[in-house]
Amino acid sequence: MSEYNRSREVEAFDATKRGVKGLVDTGIAKIPRIFVHEEYIQEDKTVCDLSVPVIDLGSLSNNRGEIIDQVRAAFEEWGVFKIVNHGIPKSSMSKAMEAVKGFHEQDTETKKQYYSRDYLKKVVYNSNFDLYTNAVTNWRDSLYLIMAPDPPTPQELPQMDPMMEFSEQAKNVGISVFELLSEALGLKKSHMLDMGCAMGEFLACNYYPACPEPDKTLGFGSHTDSGFLTFLLQDEIGGLQVLHKDQWVDVPPSPGSLLVISGDMMELITNARFKSTYHRVVAKNSGPRISVAFVFRMHLAGSGSSRLYGPIKELLSENNPPIYREAKGEDIVACRYAKGIEKTPLLWYFKLNKP
Ligand code: OGA
Ligand code: NI
Repeated sequence: MSEYNRSREVEAFDATKRGVKGLVDTGIAKIPRIFVHEEYIQEDKTVCDLSVPVIDLGSLSNNRGEIIDQVRAAFEEWGVFKIVNHGIPKSSMSKAMEAVKGFHEQDTETKKQYYSRDYLKKVVYNSNFDLYTNAVTNWRDSLYLIMAPDPPTPQELPQMDPMMEFSEQAKNVGISVFELLSEALGLKKSHMLDMGCAMGEFLACNYYPACPEPDKTLGFGSHTDSGFLTFLLQDEIGGLQVLHKDQWVDVPPSPGSLLVISGDMMELITNARFKSTYHRVVAKNSGPRISVAFVFRMHLAGSGSSRLYGPIKELLSENNPPIYREAKGEDIVACRYAKGIEKTPLLWYFKLNKP
């Protein structure tokens, strides 16, 4: 048998342009070695028996003060919360999920034309955005869409009306959440929006095929999201976990809800009062699992142009000096693309006083 050469196998997998889905379709019973996560295999897989906070936005108009308190507590303690009664119809969430499933289940020849690692493009399909930087490969394929400030044209993205509709609705919910978060910090309601936190929009449309050896790999390894806020829609398969006080907590599917996740840019502007939250997706032998992550974040170029984001001045004091330097949204995204998902927290690169 020839010796294992990870980079050669990664290149060969990439060259097929058919992703993990195409690999599974060949009928494999064992996962190729590039997907084996040795550390995960060794890990104690007990999860902590807690649940992420749930916030009901249905009573926002007559219960605003209390909801603000809940949002503050949830972001201070967890960096994540589930929202219900947020106003997005279930039908448009399921249409978005179906569109994502439909995209990934097209024949490889059709899908291949979108296969790329050029993140300046508004429509990119690939497997593992960090295939060449990550030491392990994750069991998933993704379609990435840049939705704002300049959405893809119908030519660039055929049959994606449901994604357009969902992202418009998610954006509106997002605006309300930015207002609640601003107020939770004692700032003007429009503070985060005025800073431009909702200018860039990005969609990650993920497909996690059923995995023949789910205990040996991860759907998506532990990471923080690089933007301000993520609104995550997951289907009924489950597998999402969030890290809370150094323990993994399952986030079981709950149809109709959305998970709000604090990202690195949120941590940067709040000077770590609202930290970004580590989360991951375990692999399952059932599936496929579909998820859609709507993210308020910038892109490599264009969005937000030269706007700088730094710790909000009103939150700083002698006792709370800035931890992070000001950075352009695109610098943070560029750093994520360059480094991939790695052990060093993304924000470490933006710290002012490094030991
Ligand atoms: C992501 C992510 C989780 C999921 O795309 O950043 O964390 O459930 N996805 O797919
Ligand atoms: Ni994520």
